[in-house]
Amino acid sequence: MIRFFVFLAVILLVFSSETFADDREKALTTEPGRSSEGKKVFNDRDKGHCLLCHRFSRSDESFQGTIGPSLDGIATKLDAQQIRYRIVDNSRLNSQTLMPAYFRTEGLVQVAAEFKGKTVLSAQDVEDLVAYLVLDRKGR
Ligand code: HEC
Repeated sequence: MIRFFVFLAVILLVFSSETFADDREKALTTEPGRSSEGKKVFNDRDKGHCLLCHRFSRSDESFQGTIGPSLDGIATKLDAQQIRYRIVDNSRLNSQTLMPAYFRTEGLVQVAAEFKGKTVLSAQDVEDLVAYLVLDRKGR
């Protein structure tokens, strides 16, 4: 009986560490992101346009979206690598997601010639965004 539980524990451990390892992405730049720049990318309707779908109390913009979950307190739930993973290409977690893949060039359909091979955001933009969202540790 004890053996069975040990076996079960090992299986659970293997599975959980795999799911954790799978949703993390290492930093895209060597310099750390700048949260003040990240705020601009977050609010910018021509760049991240995160506000189209997300609410975030620290953003000063008045019109905020409700299609995605609120990002308040996001850093109490996800670490920097997990937040980055979702910004780079959230469809790796949910193939049906509405969230655009901000740092992916492969597998995109119907891309205009001028945007071929280009990502929506630069590596620096992504790092700045992560820094901005991770600052939000207090759950607000
Ligand atoms: C078109 C809508 C849309 C846009 C634009 C969008 N997202 Fe999302 N986002 C979503 C949805 C919907 C989810 C919920 C998860 C899913 O769909 O898989 C999500 C999930 C997330 C999550 C995980 C939240 C959690 O609680 O687990 C983060 C972090 C995130 N988005 C950040 C961003 C950032 C940063 C931007 C801008 C660069 C952005 N999103 C732009 C729709 C969007």
